[in-house]
Amino acid sequence: MIALVSGASGGIGSAVCERLADDGYTVVGLDAEIDVTSSAQVESFVDHVETSGPITALVNAAGVLRTGRAVDLSDAEWADTLAVNASGVFHVSRAVARRMIPRHSGAIVTVASNAAKTARQNMAAYAASKAAATVFTKCLGLELAEFGIRCNVVAPGSTDTPMLTGLWDGSDAIRTSVEGAPGAYRVGIPLGRVASPSDVAEAVAFLLSDRAAHITMQDLTVDGGACLGV
Ligand SMILES: NC(=O)c1ccc[n+]([C@@H]2O[C@H](COP(=O)([O-])OP(=O)(O)OC[C@H]3O[C@@H](n4cnc5c(N)ncnc54)[C@H](O)[C@@H]3O)[C@@H](O)[C@H]2O)c1
Repeated sequence: MIALVSGASGGIGSAVCERLADDGYTVVGLDAEIDVTSSAQVESFVDHVETSGPITALVNAAGVLRTGRAVDLSDAEWADTLAVNASGVFHVSRAVARRMIPRHSGAIVTVASNAAKTARQNMAAYAASKAAATVFTKCLGLELAEFGIRCNVVAPGSTDTPMLTGLWDGSDAIRTSVEGAPGAYRVGIPLGRVASPSDVAEAVAFLLSDRAAHITMQDLTVDGGACLGV
């Protein structure tokens, strides 16, 4: 059982790798040394991984966050965000799904974001990229259902990783997330804390497992209630 995890060196990706290893997977990580924005690099890496056995699970966790008011975003900020968060998911999922189809088995989880469904200030490019990744993953799930391959989305809210702590100084980013910011039309987190990477990894592991055998094209939000159930 080989699981391929993109963004494997990141906060959530590394927690996913550990969690899947506990489930008995041989975990292969993919991070900055293979650029998910390059379909050629992704194809040859997936080819290489498959020489050691079939990839049975894929987790798309690579991502970037570029913040800024929509009207101030540069062409490059917009393009880079879409390239990693949307096209990257497409490249890796396509490469792996093409190999899963003849085997009639496999499961894919894309780590998107609760920002894909709730408007956030300064996150237009990020949210748009995550919405694209979310709907792409659901459409893929529809096309792969006849082959017994399930595709789901985990949508984290604020999670204690470098992506969140890099927003401001660490403690402020976490406190602001928990308390909310009324001036930014942002409610806090009803469960009273940001997610740990393992909270997200648990949801990923569940959706990849046989315990989720009849679940596909779903979007599981792991945000402590920050989007009030939307
Ligand atoms: N941390 C949060 O609050 C939060 C909330 C919602 C969603 N997410 C999503 O969860 C996923 C993991 O985020 P994280 O918090 O662990 O962030 P992180 O910055 O710790 O990890 C992201 C990883 O993606 C890798 N990466 C970036 N661009 C890449 C590229 N072009 N090719 C290959 N790898 C690349 C980075 O090297 C990094 O290791 C991301 O998709 C992120 O958007 C995070």
